[in-house]
Amino acid sequence: VRDGNGVKGIVDSGLLEVPERYIQPLHEQINKLDSRTHDVPPIDLSKLNGPEHEQVVDQIVSAAETLGFFQVVNHGVPVKLLESLKDAAHSFFSLPPEKKAIYLTGLSPSPLVKYGTSFVPEKEKALEWKDYISMVYSNDEDALQYWPNQCKEVALEYLKLASKMVRDLVEILMGKLGVKLDESKIDGLLGMRMVNMNYYPACPNPELTVGVGRHSDMGAITVLLQDGIGGLYVKVDADNNDATKGEWLEIPPIHGALVINIGDTLQILSNGKYKSAEHRVRTTNTQSRVSVPVFTLPNPTEVIVPLPEVVKKDGLARYREVIFQDYMKNFFGNAHAGKKSLDFAS
Ligand code: SIN
Ligand code: FE2
Repeated sequence: VRDGNGVKGIVDSGLLEVPERYIQPLHEQINKLDSRTHDVPPIDLSKLNGPEHEQVVDQIVSAAETLGFFQVVNHGVPVKLLESLKDAAHSFFSLPPEKKAIYLTGLSPSPLVKYGTSFVPEKEKALEWKDYISMVYSNDEDALQYWPNQCKEVALEYLKLASKMVRDLVEILMGKLGVKLDESKIDGLLGMRMVNMNYYPACPNPELTVGVGRHSDMGAITVLLQDGIGGLYVKVDADNNDATKGEWLEIPPIHGALVINIGDTLQILSNGKYKSAEHRVRTTNTQSRVSVPVFTLPNPTEVIVPLPEVVKKDGLARYREVIFQDYMKNFFGNAHAGKKSLDFAS
């Protein structure tokens, strides 16, 4: 779909049924009615600085070891900034097609900025009902020069505050594994950062489509802002010792909260102790939904391998060594397919 219209363009053209190429095979379609909500209260990160520090650390670690998804409040990103981000996303996607098309691959003024639709359309049997803009961070100057005017300031501020939180979370998670990484190692593991803005237009046949197909994230940790519409589902690991194992749970929108999820990188580093959960997004026919993830990923040259301290304890390494750029290439070379991306390191 080489134009600036994306899925939004299809909807704006006034069509009444989704085009064939967006219809998912039956086993990928999402039935809203037979899923439950993950109704665990958000973790209050401000308590890390008080007498309840250890309890909060335990909540974080236990969430990372089980579902791999949790929500946080008092996370250091002002709630007002979260509101501005959602507004900024809506204003970017409301631009006329030709104003968005300038960010398409090959046209974009910078390789750091990419506007697109679906995930890897050329590889997908059925397309995802989503448009997005992706903004990679290199330095402030480039961000302010190349990221779209509608969102650059708020996105940059958000990226910085979210990155700080990610670093704290990684230190906590590593600490519980008995690992103390030096600063330069952490810098390498969290070296690539980007903010995406996702736009899921209201869909005439939500039951036939997906906003995002099931996948796990490839990086270290993802911080996600979702709006109030809902539709993000996470699969409970089959080996989870819980009544909901194998089920899809909806992560409910909580005003002011951010969703945190563990990515493949931390699953590999922890030798499988921390879970990079499979997740997906449903569409709705009432309103368009926006979400704004910050991805924190290793530098391309970083070697990703289970940490020796953990392997020693476990008696075996569950993953092989991979260079992150190879992992990434494999990830973007295939359609979303559940946790298949992890096979690359198996
Ligand atoms: C994603 O995981 O790719 C998107 C999540 C969301 O929009 O809620
Ligand atoms: Fe994701």
